[in-house]
Amino acid sequence: MKTLTTLALAAALAAATASGSALASDDLAKKNGCIACHDAAAKKVGPTWKDIAAKNKGNEKGVAEAIVKGSKDKYGKIPMPPQAKAAADAPALAKWILTH
Ligand code: HEC
Repeated sequence: MKTLTTLALAAALAAATASGSALASDDLAKKNGCIACHDAAAKKVGPTWKDIAAKNKGNEKGVAEAIVKGSKDKYGKIPMPPQAKAAADAPALAKWILTH
């Protein structure tokens, strides 16, 4: 009985840790301040996630790089400043952006 309880507890803890560490990418976009300039479908300062996904099909790596290094002259006259602080989250963000 004691073993069972311990096992159940361990499983619950593992599940909590997994969901706690993998932020949904909506939250990542919020956390990194992307939503100040981007939205899924409404054009703000930057292009929509949909426009970016359409232009970068299958190019997850390129998108992740653009997030960290910034981008200019691709969508309009306003450049995107480099988002170096988002470097650790860039691969997850890129993957998520391309699902739009
Ligand atoms: C200060 C406003 C601003 C912020 C903050 C910002 N962006 Fe941008 N972003 C832009 C603009 C403007 C463009 C269009 C640049 C261009 O024309 O090449 C852009 C373009 C992009 C692109 C397209 C790159 C490409 O090569 O097609 C991606 C991806 C992107 N942003 C992701 C993000 C993510 C993720 C964040 C948060 C970590 C973020 N942006 C934060 C303004 C911003």
